[in-house]
Amino acid sequence: MTAVSKDSFDTAAAEMKDGTVAIVTGGADGLGKSFSHALLKKKAKGLCIADFNETTGNRTLREFADEFGEDRVMFVKCDVTSKSEFEDVFKKTKAKFGCINLVVNNAGIVNEDDWEKCVDTNLKGTMRGTKLAIRYMGSEEGGEGGMVINVASMAGLQAASFMPTYTATKFASVGWTRALQADPCLKAIGITFGALCPAFANTAIVKEMDRLNSDVHRDIATAALQKLGLLEVDEVTDSFLRLVLDKFWEGKVLGLTKLNGIVQV
Ligand SMILES: NC(=O)c1ccc[n+]([C@@H]2O[C@H](COP(=O)([O-])OP(=O)(O)OC[C@H]3O[C@@H](n4cnc5c(N)ncnc54)[C@H](O)[C@@H]3O)[C@@H](O)[C@H]2O)c1
Repeated sequence: MTAVSKDSFDTAAAEMKDGTVAIVTGGADGLGKSFSHALLKKKAKGLCIADFNETTGNRTLREFADEFGEDRVMFVKCDVTSKSEFEDVFKKTKAKFGCINLVVNNAGIVNEDDWEKCVDTNLKGTMRGTKLAIRYMGSEEGGEGGMVINVASMAGLQAASFMPTYTATKFASVGWTRALQADPCLKAIGITFGALCPAFANTAIVKEMDRLNSDVHRDIATAALQKLGLLEVDEVTDSFLRLVLDKFWEGKVLGLTKLNGIVQV
């Protein structure tokens, strides 16, 4: 891991490519909501929030429409474990905004009890979203290339013994991203892939650690959190913007902890 100076890139001053149309899964709340807000502030032409929580999704849509205008934002109810609902997101986004050139596979859960749901959401959801992105950004659907950002985790780089299923999904997500980034055929059609790997950040998901069944696992999780520290959502969003806007990060895996800051892995 190589540390990268916090000051090496000015995210506030950086501008986004004109005409950017983005889809953010899990965009109704938590990190996804903050990423979506940041993209709209960076003048995204269009943004689709794809989330299975209709109440939060509609509330976030209202907030964003009030701030940025109804013509720049939409919400599509979608469970990323559903093939048809996910494809619907791409169809509706393209119909409203004309193209898609940034897909953020962010929806994710911690659920060690229902490990298959965790795999279906975190890994298969990310793979499904990536496959759709490749199709809709490729020439088959009239696309002109673009970028896929997969939101993995520090647990995708260093195993977390208190959540082995989550760890497996995030390691796989990083491997998936790296393999696709290395594919010359995808490079030739102008699609790049990056992965964001934060450690603990201040959202609802962290509270899931309290629900771990064993005291031993809860103690390990608490010790890890105390050691690495808790990131604020804005700090993670700044790193997300680097992946999207800074040429240096194109196709790379960015790790982030409160303790060590940004690292290239
Ligand atoms: N917060 C952290 O500590 C942390 C650390 C590392 C990585 N991450 C990753 O960041 C991503 C976002 O997490 P967060 O902290 O914002 O969580 P969060 O629980 O605050 O938000 C997750 C959002 O995803 C939505 N969602 C969940 N399952 C879905 C599904 N099947 N289909 C569609 N939408 C779904 C939820 O409705 C919610 O809006 C996840 O992939 C998570 O693994 C989070």
